[in-house]
Amino acid sequence: NMRIGILTSGGDCPGLNAVIRGAVLNGIKSYGHEFVGFLDGWRGVVEGDVIELPRHAVRGISKQGGTILGTSRTNPYEGDRGGPENIKETLQRLGIDAVIAIGGEGTLAGAKRLTEAGLDIVGVPKTIDNDLDATDYTFGFDTANQIAVEAIDRLRTTGESHHRCMVAEVMGRHVGWLALHAGMAAGAHAILIPEQSVTMAQINTWVREAHDRGRAPLVVVAEGFVPEGAEAPHSERGLDTFGRPRLGGIGERLAPLIEDATGIETRATVLGHIQRGGVPSAFDRVLATRLGMAAVDSVQEAAWGTMVSLRGTNINRVPFQAALNNLKRVPQARYDEARILFG
Ligand code: F6P
Repeated sequence: NMRIGILTSGGDCPGLNAVIRGAVLNGIKSYGHEFVGFLDGWRGVVEGDVIELPRHAVRGISKQGGTILGTSRTNPYEGDRGGPENIKETLQRLGIDAVIAIGGEGTLAGAKRLTEAGLDIVGVPKTIDNDLDATDYTFGFDTANQIAVEAIDRLRTTGESHHRCMVAEVMGRHVGWLALHAGMAAGAHAILIPEQSVTMAQINTWVREAHDRGRAPLVVVAEGFVPEGAEAPHSERGLDTFGRPRLGGIGERLAPLIEDATGIETRATVLGHIQRGGVPSAFDRVLATRLGMAAVDSVQEAAWGTMVSLRGTNINRVPFQAALNNLKRVPQARYDEARILFG
């Protein structure tokens, strides 16, 4: 039997704890393995900061949001103790034979490099944005979508009372999966996503059409959307501490433009991190549990450099690279389908 280390890295996501529990239970029950958790993602790996994860440590955690291990955006190649040789030594000192890395693009890219340098790592894909390729859904997306829909339904009733246009900004820096699904579920009159360029004139037309039919227009916009011809919203805001462009609150920018052009009173709401918090949905708990269990099977079979993924209803295994080649964007056909419902 082996001693396996688990880490959660990058932005948190409902379902992370269910992955941890699935891995620990399958590992203990099927193979007699032992588990430890690295604290705060790669920071815990680099600094050798671990906690033991016996069976009782994961009792009842699949219904908890966040991650019991903590997370960070630390890069495993940073600092004096980073890099494959140092990490190998640290793992040896702690008696850890293999690592399960739960994370998004950045985490998996780091894991890939380390695996190529000889470390024994398998991955579990994670993001509420659902933008990782080579997996049909990522856990966390269903929960974030449900939270967004509940919030947007509430915006709807207040919007209707006041005959206002309501703009709901949802997460999605690079892709519009959340906006598309939450917008469709909530019956939005316009859905705006980074993949699709739409003019202000078109947006205003959809808003007017809904208003003319006596509805309170509802616009669902992904944070990464930029109206055609407009400056990127982050252009004047520079980079954040982690070198990523600071997004500029597209909802707040759209609202006055819509109001001025249509004469319809308009309010914007940014849902923000509410979408990443709290209890995971049943769908996400099941998906996350199965992925965690399958990751231990990957370790057992020494499938280093691979990530578990959902294809249809089956969990399978793909090389890290398969998830890193491209972002999984909303296909044109999915937007065209939703667009029929706008206005
Ligand atoms: O990738 C998940 C995500 O929630 C994005 O939708 C969002 O742009 C970003 O993370 C926010 O990151 P942070 O929590 O670091 O502000």
